[in-house]
Amino acid sequence: EKGGFKHFMAKEIAEQPVVLADALTHYLPEGTINLPETLDFRGLDRLTLVACGTAFYACSVAKYWFESLAGLPCEIDVASEFRYREPPLPHNSFAIFVSQSGETADTLAALRYCTDKVAKIVSVVNVATSSIARESDVALPILAGIEVGVASTKAFTCQLLTLAVMALKAGRDRGHLSDEDFAAHVAALKTLPGLMNAALSGAPRIAKLAEQIAEAQDILFLGRGVMYPLALEGALKLKEISYIHAEGYASGELKHGPIALIDRTVPVIVLAPHDRLFDKTVSNMQEVMARHGKVLLISDARGIAAAGEGAWESLTMPEVAEPFAPILYALPAQLLAYHTAIAKGTDVDQPRNLAKSVTVE
Ligand code: M6R
Repeated sequence: EKGGFKHFMAKEIAEQPVVLADALTHYLPEGTINLPETLDFRGLDRLTLVACGTAFYACSVAKYWFESLAGLPCEIDVASEFRYREPPLPHNSFAIFVSQSGETADTLAALRYCTDKVAKIVSVVNVATSSIARESDVALPILAGIEVGVASTKAFTCQLLTLAVMALKAGRDRGHLSDEDFAAHVAALKTLPGLMNAALSGAPRIAKLAEQIAEAQDILFLGRGVMYPLALEGALKLKEISYIHAEGYASGELKHGPIALIDRTVPVIVLAPHDRLFDKTVSNMQEVMARHGKVLLISDARGIAAAGEGAWESLTMPEVAEPFAPILYALPAQLLAYHTAIAKGTDVDQPRNLAKSVTVE
């Protein structure tokens, strides 16, 4: 069943170019978007996106997309907080629930709280027959195929793709995206499977780096803009399976506290494509390097050249259209977690204390 891989997680990481291509064929057939007509974003005041764990980080990336591509304000929350907060919800809004299993107790309870309070309950699920899918007005499949590894990998990138397609539809419905920009974003999404294959070829190098990362007690992940939620996801993945303490921060928050942790034993993994915020990230990196932190810069060739000397190591990624970089950069983050766990000899597919589906509070 593991298709020649040592672990389900390795298989599921490697499957991403193929499952993402399938999802692209489904959602973006030639010249159109294949989403239900009833999913009409015109005239909405707000979106509320709710989920747990990795699915919540997918929502956190999607907030940037809905706001920038569609001009639609978004609220995001983890389901365990949302459900008891009893938040007021504008009727003129959609509530979107993201869940691989479709059975997460907190997410399901949050969905039930929203029933009859919003215009539409939308879910983004991997298991089409799940409770969350059944109780939604619209259930969108992420088409990742069965995910067995407790650490979510291909479900995350397929959740992101589905949410990106929704954001593009919202942008078009609301007249926020020109035809030209819309077409450029669609074309950019379609390049992702090929770019993912290129990113996967970096695995042997990542495995080498992981041998040293595995020695660390504490690790920081930094990202800005759409890459900030990916920093959180990278840290979650690493702590789940390697049991190393890891935290994700918005790069700009570094000097507001976490910089106090930096010394020569702390690897700082910077997820930073050469985008419009890159120069700011470089100055954050320099602050780390000045305190002898070990920076691993994950960027494209332009970014690595622009960052200059001083990083401990760098990992070169293919260039990718700015808004969709998290979909591609998820792969090195997953591979780093995987190979660090292998170096430590931990149980990758069944990490201690964790269950694949959290059906109790
Ligand atoms: O099935 P769900 O997507 O609702 O699960 C949500 C979280 O429990 C899940 O993403 C968890 O954080 C994973 N173990 C992350 O790798």
